[in-house]
Amino acid sequence: MTDVRALFDPSFHEAERAHELLARLRADHPVVECPPLDPEQPFRSWVVTRHADVLAVTKDASTFRAHPPIDMEGMPRQINMTDPPEHTALRRLLAPAFTPKAVAAMASGIRDHATALAQGLRERGQGDFVKDVARELSMRALCRLLGLPDADVAFLCDRVEAMTHPTDPEFVRPRCPPEVSAGLAWRELGFYLARAYARPRPGGLLALLAGSDAAGVPLTADERMHFGWLLLDAGYTTVVGAIGGAARVLLDHPDELSRLRHDPSLVETAVEEGLRWTSPIVHFSRWVAEETVLGGVKLSPGERVQVLFPSANRDERAFADPFRFDAGRTPNPHLAFGAGAHFCVGAPLARLQLRVVLEELLMKLDLEPAGTPRVIRSAVNAGLKSLPVRLKPAA
Ligand code: HEM
Repeated sequence: MTDVRALFDPSFHEAERAHELLARLRADHPVVECPPLDPEQPFRSWVVTRHADVLAVTKDASTFRAHPPIDMEGMPRQINMTDPPEHTALRRLLAPAFTPKAVAAMASGIRDHATALAQGLRERGQGDFVKDVARELSMRALCRLLGLPDADVAFLCDRVEAMTHPTDPEFVRPRCPPEVSAGLAWRELGFYLARAYARPRPGGLLALLAGSDAAGVPLTADERMHFGWLLLDAGYTTVVGAIGGAARVLLDHPDELSRLRHDPSLVETAVEEGLRWTSPIVHFSRWVAEETVLGGVKLSPGERVQVLFPSANRDERAFADPFRFDAGRTPNPHLAFGAGAHFCVGAPLARLQLRVVLEELLMKLDLEPAGTPRVIRSAVNAGLKSLPVRLKPAA
């Protein structure tokens, strides 16, 4: 059997080999110890691959904590690495930006943008669905959410990609070691965010965070900055992965796309299936707080569990025929957004963007693949960096 550590090797994901290993782990070793990637690692680490076990871990915030059991003195609190009650307060702070009303207010802007992007593809007759559509659409939506100018989209896409994908040479600056390149992008985004926080646009999410004292959840300047970095990463990289991956699978399965065109009422289930299929976040960690048994394996306090979302979403025990893309799949209890206390706060906005891409681009334009899609070399984010497409010649 391939070493479990391959799951943390970016090239293994780039070569799209992970699902084969994950299927074998689900069958034979659903909770398996992962030998340390770093010989100095002072704790045991487990990989969790079945849907039921991933759900159990993510829903039980008292046994499986988000905060590592080490002294993180000096490290600012980050929402994804805190536990209740701190975590609950940070969620409360973000909540107003993601209410159904707030997200609905963004819909027409996103739809107009998608229509313009579709028009661009129509006029050129060809393009790259990731570079010309997914990146543009998701970063502009994020800018509107945060209260940043549309004019900064290109700068932000470039720096966020350099920060989040240092394992892919295409996102590393020339003549720069990967960690230096990612660090430079991180710093540039830091300067950018500091300026944005100094004069936040009223109504934007950065203004909410800047006014955290008044909301009764005071943040330090450092915590505010980390929130900014986190939102830029979490709100962009994932959506690009979902849009690019959904476009790819639909273009590869024209029967499913034509089913959707003939029955647009399937768009909601198609969005969920796109999320299940793409699972843009590969894994997340939790820390065992008290002795427990998971998948028949005894886990002890201080140990780490890594839940593999793409594996849970292809689990034969939870989904009939999981390797088939079914635009009408019902039910679809996918875990692409996680579950429990840390369930993705941006899910309504991500769903809206995916829906609009289906309705305004994939269902309206007659596209076909025009080259080989290229996968990002990353063990953290699943997604494409390129998906060449062209309009089909008129029949
Ligand atoms: C398809 C797109 C997306 C996917 C697949 C996704 C996936 C996830 C997952 C799996 C988690 C939970 C991690 C855990 O269990 O610890 C999460 C949390 C989070 N997501 Fe998303 N996300 C997406 C879009 C977004 C967007 C658009 C935003 C914001 C603009 C966002 C912001 C966040 C934040 C702030 C958290 C941390 C929540 C917490 O710890 O309570 N995400 N996301």
